[in-house]
Amino acid sequence: MNSPAGVALTGLGVAVPTKVITNADLERTLDTSNDWIVSRTGIRERHWAAPDESLASLCAVAARQAMDQAGVTATELDAIILGTVTPDHRLPSTSCEVQALLGAPQAIPLDVAAACPGWIYSLAVAEGFIAAGRAKTVLVLGAEKLSTITDMEDRSTAILFGDGAGATIMQRTERTDRRILSIVLGADGTLIDLLLIPGGGSLHPMSPEVIEERSQFMKMKGREVFKAAVVAMANACSEALAEAGLTKDDVDLLVPHQANIRIIEATAKRTGISMDRVMVNVDRFGNTSSASIPIALDQAVAEGRLRPGSVLLTVSFGAGFTWGAAVIRW
Ligand code: UT7
Repeated sequence: MNSPAGVALTGLGVAVPTKVITNADLERTLDTSNDWIVSRTGIRERHWAAPDESLASLCAVAARQAMDQAGVTATELDAIILGTVTPDHRLPSTSCEVQALLGAPQAIPLDVAAACPGWIYSLAVAEGFIAAGRAKTVLVLGAEKLSTITDMEDRSTAILFGDGAGATIMQRTERTDRRILSIVLGADGTLIDLLLIPGGGSLHPMSPEVIEERSQFMKMKGREVFKAAVVAMANACSEALAEAGLTKDDVDLLVPHQANIRIIEATAKRTGISMDRVMVNVDRFGNTSSASIPIALDQAVAEGRLRPGSVLLTVSFGAGFTWGAAVIRW
């Protein structure tokens, strides 16, 4: 839907765990090779959180950077919207814990479980809060500890995922030269079996059987996910551009979800955007799900590829299936 309220992204922050896992590290525990991982995915290393490193603490570090950049204090936050599928606890939401860590008692906390597009879904929720007059300033986070839901004995998934947190500040604005131009969301819930954690939820609570079957971990049909991701992301890009009244030629930078270099290249090709206008950092972080776009945005800004006034197209796809895209005048 076209962005009705004037809403701008005014701050950005990132936190990743210090521990880096290289492909060589994985070669020691899995029947895999650096060559296979690099050629099939583009991934060279990823960050995995230490057991005592909480998602909420990563979120708080990223959030403080974003608030500093936006010139916003914790008491000015009206809401905290966190896209995640790896909350610290099943109860309560991790955004409640972030609210406490930041000292923002007035901020309404809400976790959004939309898998990889969790940050884009959260942008849309925050925009809705702002459009409804419920909030002026919102902390929007995408953060995951995917290492905790990955089966480290399954070579087809253990090589893919990483941990991290990205934070953004969204604020109501009157400015027209810096704002979100469009956000589109989509989903196909008939395809949940292609990427799913079968056990450990309320349908199949944790039990010796769940642990025996290792069904508390992600199960993925990689090829099917790959094909669906490219089609859905390219379509979402076209829709988001059309809603913004722009074309692919107006895009200064495409920042796609960082799942696999081959998915990124195929999506860019289908959208008609050459790779010199595409942000890639899957090599350094692997797939961090809802954190991947804000982490890539942070690097794009640091490298001067995203400047005030740039037209940013961002897009994601994940379990559900869910997808989303946004066009933002930076
Ligand atoms: O964030 C959204 C969610 N996820 C994704 O976007 C991931 C989407 N899918 C993918 O990125 C790719 O499908 C994968 C990277 C997961 C797999 O690449 P692929 O080219 O689709 O490989 P494949 O699953 O078709 O497997 C090809 C072969 C198989 O061996 P056989 O049956 O041909 O003998 C696999 O057993 O590669 C084998 N294989 C591996 N070999 C070495 C699978 N994983 C590995 C591995 N190392 N880590």
